Amino acid sequence: MNGTPKAVIEIDGLTKEFDIGLRGVRLRAVDHLGLSIPRGGIFGLLGPNGSGKSTTIKIILGLMQPTSGTCRVLGGSAADPDVRRRIGYLPESPDFYRFLTGWELVEFYGRMSGLSGAVLGESVERVLDRVGLVEASRRKIGTYSKGMLQRAGLAQALVHDPDLIILDEPTAGVDPIGAQMIAEIILALKASGKSVLLSSHLLAQVEGVCDRVAILDRGKVVLEGSVEELLSEKNRRMAVFEGLPVEKESALLAWLEANGAAGASIDNPRTTLDQIFIDRVGKGTAGESGDKIQEVRP
Ligand SMILES: Nc1ncnc2c1ncn2[C@@H]1O[C@H](COP(=O)(O)OP(=O)(O)OP(=O)(O)O)[C@@H](O)[C@H]1O
Ligand SMILES: [Mg+2]
Repeated sequence: MNGTPKAVIEIDGLTKEFDIGLRGVRLRAVDHLGLSIPRGGIFGLLGPNGSGKSTTIKIILGLMQPTSGTCRVLGGSAADPDVRRRIGYLPESPDFYRFLTGWELVEFYGRMSGLSGAVLGESVERVLDRVGLVEASRRKIGTYSKGMLQRAGLAQALVHDPDLIILDEPTAGVDPIGAQMIAEIILALKASGKSVLLSSHLLAQVEGVCDRVAILDRGKVVLEGSVEELLSEKNRRMAVFEGLPVEKESALLAWLEANGAAGASIDNPRTTLDQIFIDRVGKGTAGESGDKIQEVRP
């Protein structure tokens, strides 16, 4: 067998039906799904609420059995502990034990993944630093904000340096600064050769990080492809410039049309509210992102 298959996840004819307790009526959450998720990139599983993203992820992880179909992960089965050890997982809406500190939580998951001794301590520190939670790591999880919880969840998913990282809605409930930090971490994982599968319905964020996406609807893939191919309008070109006097614009448009450009227009480029938010609020929060505590002393 080839030890390093090109796809990290291969799904074929995957179907999952749930018995919903209504006189034998079953709900088909995943419907003959076929997907091949390539090694070493960021793959986005998109789709509306209830389209089967989390169910698919749980089957990939071996947390749920499919009704029919097959799923291979890292060339093997997620039931194999050696395969599981190479996977990091951030569940949707993580519900961590609230009386542990952030440090203890990440340490616990590191230990469960087989880390111990000095390597465990170093790994916990490294990932907490990476998600900007070192300062807050002695506080109990129960006191964390939503964004901090999500970053603690990311830290536990990364503590054992997995090859495949599966993130179910990693930026759910996270502000734009936290979301940008998570996006940067995901991009850094890809740069170090890891494979990432993430699910989301925040399309603007997905667009900025994913190489490929699949859109699910009612458990079926309705569109799959590279983000570049799906989004580029190949027949259209765009130029951005500053300093051209307004009165010269009509001459520029006339020149473009005379040279074969159809439908040329001049307008102001638009920024995004996310970017404005990051520029304004992000200033002065270097180091730990977001969740800055204003200390109030008696
Ligand atoms: N344990 C379960 N028992 C019964 N039905 C379930 C179960 N888990 C999921 N479903 C149903 O399966 C469908 C797919 O759910 P799933 O959680 O996979 O969707 P999703 O795409 O992750 O949605 P969201 O964006 O809201 O997280 C939904 O109709 C859901 O109600
Ligand atoms: Mg879900």
